[in-house]
Amino acid sequence: MKLGILGFGKMGEAIAQGLKLSQVSQGIEVLGATRSHHNAAEISRRLNIKCHTDNGKLIAESDIVLLCVKPHQAEPLLRSVAQKFQKRHLLISICASITTDQLSKWSGNRASIIRAMPNTPCLIGQGMTVFCPGPRAKEKDLSVAQEIFGTLGETAIVEESLMDGVTGLSGCGPAYAYLIIEALSDAGVKMGLSRSAATLMAAQTLAGSAQMVLKRGVHPAALKDEVTTPAGCTIDGLMALEEGKLRVTLIKAVVAAAKRSKNLRSPE
Ligand SMILES: NC(=O)c1ccc[n+]([C@@H]2O[C@H](COP(=O)([O-])OP(=O)(O)OC[C@H]3O[C@@H](n4cnc5c(N)ncnc54)[C@H](OP(=O)(O)O)[C@@H]3O)[C@@H](O)[C@H]2O)c1
Repeated sequence: MKLGILGFGKMGEAIAQGLKLSQVSQGIEVLGATRSHHNAAEISRRLNIKCHTDNGKLIAESDIVLLCVKPHQAEPLLRSVAQKFQKRHLLISICASITTDQLSKWSGNRASIIRAMPNTPCLIGQGMTVFCPGPRAKEKDLSVAQEIFGTLGETAIVEESLMDGVTGLSGCGPAYAYLIIEALSDAGVKMGLSRSAATLMAAQTLAGSAQMVLKRGVHPAALKDEVTTPAGCTIDGLMALEEGKLRVTLIKAVVAAAKRSKNLRSPE
C-alpha cells in the first residue's frame, strides 16, 4: 500500500516520522510531495523516502493520498491535479475546516473521501486523530485510515457536523496543554525550583494525570476528589483556579477555535 503525503510541512512530516517509528506501518510505503526541489531533496535525505515536486506524479503512484497543505492551499492544489484522481484512490485530508463535499468536488468526484483531524503528538505515537467519512468512503476506507493513524496514537470517528469542535479541542489542544505546562513551570520557578526541574514536574504531572483518566476510565471529577484532602493544600489551589475562571476559560478557548475553523471555510 502506497501512502502519498501531499504537502510536507509540520503535520506532513509529523505523520511521516510517526509512521516510520511505528512497527505496524511496515506494509505502508510512504512517499511525499512538496513544492521546492531543495525541500524535496532534504526530506528524501532526512526520512529516506521518495519525495516528488510533481503532485500529479505522487497521486499516480499512490493508493492513498494524504492532503497536508494549509486550508487555503487545498482548493487550487486539488483542482490542478483533479484529473489524476481515480476511483481506486482514497483521499484523506487533514486540512482544518475543509468539508468532504468540497474535497470531493475539487478532486473530480471520483476518489473516496475522508476528512481527518490529527494533532502534533502523532510525532511520538501519542496523537489523537478524529475522522469523518465523506462521499464514496466505505467501511474498509475508514479501517485503512484508522490503521494508518492508529500507528500514531488514538483514533475516533464522529459525524462531520462535529469536526469544527474536534478541531478546537484535540486539533488545537496541544497548544493549550503547552501553555498550561509553561505556566506551571513558571510557578515552580517562582517557588525556587530550577526551570528544568519545574518543567519536568509540570509535564509529567499532566502526562500522568491524563494516563489516569485514560487507563482508569473514571470521571476526572472523581479523580480530582481523590487528590483533595479535606482542609488540605489542594482545595486551596483549586479555589485559586476557580477564582481565575480556568474552566470557563478553557471552554471558551475550544469554542473560539471551533468558530474560527467554521469561519475559515469559504462558502460553496
Ligand atoms: N499544525 C497543527 O497542529 C495541525 C493539527 C491538525 C491539522 N492541521 C492541518 O494540517 C494542515 C497542514 O498544517 P501545517 O501546520 O503542517 O502547515 P505547513 O507547515 O505550512 O505545511 C504545509 C506544506 O504544504 C506545502 N504546500 C503548499 N502548497 C503546495 C502545493 N501546491 N504543492 C505541494 N506542496 C504544497 C508547503 O510547502 P512550502 O514549504 O513550499 O510552502 C508546506 O510544506 C493544515 O491544513 C492544518 O489545518 C494542523
